[in-house]
Amino acid sequence: MCPSYTSRPMHPCWRMLMMVSALIPTSGLIHKESSKPMEILDLLADNSSTAGGWNFCANQWEECVCHGRVRWGYGRTWKVIDPPLHSSSLTVMCSIKHLQDVLPGESQKHCQCQGQVMSKHSFSSESTAFTEGGISKIALKDSDWIFCSNQWQECQCNNHVRWGKGERWKYLSPKKLGSLFSVKCDVNALGDPVPGEDGKHCECLVARGSLFERELNPMLLSQKAADSYGARIIASCDIFEAGKANGPEGRAQWQAVEPFCSKAWEEKAEADRSLHSGPRRLSLGSLQKLMQARVDARFETNYLKLVDEDGWFDKAFVNYFAGAPGSKHANMTEQLIRSVHMFSENPIVVLHLGSRAPDTWTPKRFPRLLLVHAAPMGADSHRSFNFNKLRSFLISRARVGVELDSDQFVGPGVDYMFEMTEKEIDEHYSLPIMPVHFYSFTQADTPQNVWWQRYCPDPPACKPHTMRWSHAHPTWTFWSLPFIGRWLRRHFRDELLLATANHAASLAVSQIPEDEDLLNVATWEERGTKQWCKFDNDYHEFVDMLSWTPQDGHHTTTGDIASDPKFYPHGAAKAFFTAHNCKDPIATAKMLDEIQSRWENGLYPPSTITYKGQFWESGDDLRKAYPELPCIF
Ligand SMILES: *[C@@H]1O[C@H](CO)[C@@H](O)[C@H](O)[C@H]1NC(C)=O
Ligand SMILES: *[C@@H]1O[C@H](CO)[C@@H](O)[C@H](O)[C@H]1NC(C)=O
Repeated sequence: MCPSYTSRPMHPCWRMLMMVSALIPTSGLIHKESSKPMEILDLLADNSSTAGGWNFCANQWEECVCHGRVRWGYGRTWKVIDPPLHSSSLTVMCSIKHLQDVLPGESQKHCQCQGQVMSKHSFSSESTAFTEGGISKIALKDSDWIFCSNQWQECQCNNHVRWGKGERWKYLSPKKLGSLFSVKCDVNALGDPVPGEDGKHCECLVARGSLFERELNPMLLSQKAADSYGARIIASCDIFEAGKANGPEGRAQWQAVEPFCSKAWEEKAEADRSLHSGPRRLSLGSLQKLMQARVDARFETNYLKLVDEDGWFDKAFVNYFAGAPGSKHANMTEQLIRSVHMFSENPIVVLHLGSRAPDTWTPKRFPRLLLVHAAPMGADSHRSFNFNKLRSFLISRARVGVELDSDQFVGPGVDYMFEMTEKEIDEHYSLPIMPVHFYSFTQADTPQNVWWQRYCPDPPACKPHTMRWSHAHPTWTFWSLPFIGRWLRRHFRDELLLATANHAASLAVSQIPEDEDLLNVATWEERGTKQWCKFDNDYHEFVDMLSWTPQDGHHTTTGDIASDPKFYPHGAAKAFFTAHNCKDPIATAKMLDEIQSRWENGLYPPSTITYKGQFWESGDDLRKAYPELPCIF
């Protein structure tokens, strides 16, 4: 059940991970609000005021109007600009376009004026005033607090950071303004300014027009700023509505997202008892925002290359992720992207929900990567981060999709998943298909879970519990999108599944805590019958593939997925198309290199489908030998 990523450490294996995950040391980089705000004043005073008669005039990308000389730069590096002859004042645009880039890569470059600053932004009289937890007005001027990370994630910032929610914040100030640092945003590292609140997050103070702002997730910026930085909108209610006439996929897409988009739909729904929304619903405005995404400006050419004229991928892996550059999650995701470029012919869409994505991900290095930015769910959504998984299916528009979590990688043979998905999911069977879980979670294991009253009113028979627990690594086609939309909508509108002849108890969908739970419940509710055999095996099990030699032939010591009396009396087959639980990016990188080298040298099993101690050349071969096997390959 350990999901790849969560905003709350709900599961014990996550709690473990949280404890062992490498934290970027924060002590020394920040000091707490309570400890002397004088440090900031000193730093700012040094370079911003009076020494040599220089006064701060304008930030980068702004105009400085100065009665006297202007200098442009930062710290010890300055370019001085004299006023023209016969004039004592000077107007300059403080940008690398108009002045030269005296300090490449330095986002704190600004203009100072030796004399009287003429612009209305003069603040010299305010330079000692503090607001917002001891941060000077100088720092707050022409800057915005911008979402940086959810709780349990790392925030990367080059300026002041605040942690909390609404009106209650703890302010943190870096020792050195202008250089990047990371801070882990959780109660252990930063204390608890709003006890009991799950919407706590970090925000970073970002100067408007700064280089730092330019590198942020454009969905966190104003529309104008995002547009000016070249990040085009590729998903929105308008785009989806306009596309509804474009074939069955356009129709399915609009059917899936209409409730997230349409006022008319909402009004109609409120007149229908089965569609009533509850008190935990997200507003229509929030739902509309969830459908929006922009392509990373650097990946525009990849986008044009990878999608058709209607904006659809034929086939794509889809991942969703947040995590500061250099963090464990970013590094894990990078290995995932790398593995797709090693072992697949297909593209991967990474839906980024954090504030900054690594700038080392480039279209040159990853020609089949599409980096797409979306805004995180609001602090008041009270939904697990992992529901972004379903959101990523709606945004990415893949005709055939294979979901990958950040703690996965793909191996040789993985593209078979697209073939199988296309074959199994169509107009007549439209549910997404997930692999069987290695652990068979039943009512007897977790009797408290809210859904058992509905799916197991009759233990131990549990008639409405129609399929073994699946692992939340779904594959889908566009035919599945209405299902995805329907269940995300039910969760986000806090709808109630009413009791029926088949289902004795009603169920409040928003009480279902995680994506995996929801996908399982949804599959039972809609009487799904198809399940993949286990194509997403634990990272550690790949050791069995790496010890294979041609002499072993069809023989393998890899065991099967454990049996259960109701669904899999003889266990289930595996294939090593993807790995999960890859929490150590350095070890993953090494393993990928080794798989590649063995694969290229004939020292890796030609097919990794295993069952009953044997490798099977294809799914068909396996089925011929075991026609009763409940899962599909
Ligand atoms: C101000 O300039 C001094 C040297 O002139 C430098 O050491 C210091 O780091 C600068 N202040 C900031 C905020 O970087
Ligand atoms: C992530 O990778 C970068 C670059 O290889 C490295 O500097 C950094 O320490 C890694 N971070 C973690 C948490 O492993």
